[in-house]
Amino acid sequence: MTRQFIVGGNWKMNGSQATVDSLVQGLNSATLDKSVEVVVAPPALYVAKVAQTFKAGQVAGQNTYCASKGAFTGEISPEMLKDVGAQWVILGHSERRHVFGENDALVAKKVKHALAVGMQVMFCVGETLDEREANRTTEVVFQQLQAVADAIDEAEWAHVVIAYEPVWAIGTGKVATPEQAQEVHAAIRGWLSDKVSAAVSQATRIMYGGSVNAGNCKELGKKPDVDGFLVGGASLKPEFIDIINCQQ
Ligand code: G3H
Repeated sequence: MTRQFIVGGNWKMNGSQATVDSLVQGLNSATLDKSVEVVVAPPALYVAKVAQTFKAGQVAGQNTYCASKGAFTGEISPEMLKDVGAQWVILGHSERRHVFGENDALVAKKVKHALAVGMQVMFCVGETLDEREANRTTEVVFQQLQAVADAIDEAEWAHVVIAYEPVWAIGTGKVATPEQAQEVHAAIRGWLSDKVSAAVSQATRIMYGGSVNAGNCKELGKKPDVDGFLVGGASLKPEFIDIINCQQ
């Protein structure tokens, strides 16, 4: 089965109106591989603006809450993201899990609600360095996957892209080797086949995230179970274009 390659740019809490404009302009005017799906995730305040101006792909929020509205100070709902023109949301990012204390149960509720509203979800999983060194990588990743699998129906996986982001590789410059990434991606695909269905296992895209840059993306992207990248730091630089075009 051919899975469309997807590259996401997670801008995290970076930028200003001026730099966001310039990032959008740079991507709009670049020659990008048309076979690649491109999604950018600006800070929440800039999502509406980017949704109106970004022509090279789609727009994501970096987080949403698991309710439509109400007394949840500081939160935004997927309905709000959709209302301003975003189609995607990143959920379960390791910074949400480790800096803001989100657990598997909350992430699963957020995924369920965002899907119910009609959003596409980039669902992030990944182990810490201690967990990897204790040979617990697949145990941790499978537990994160199970929480979401318990919350959603088989058909809803069509709107989920999994992002495998080893925490030790995020923002550290320590990228997983293509072999390390492939090993975990293949394990995730095997888990989907066992726990969800063979069809979902074959169709679901699995992105790699963690210190992806123009220099390492080509080799990572050649691995059979690497279906794209979720890029942090390098998505704020011109090299993001090279990452999008890495399959050429
Ligand atoms: O969402 C993106 C990941 O956290 C990767 O970030 O490319 O800066 O390591 P990074």
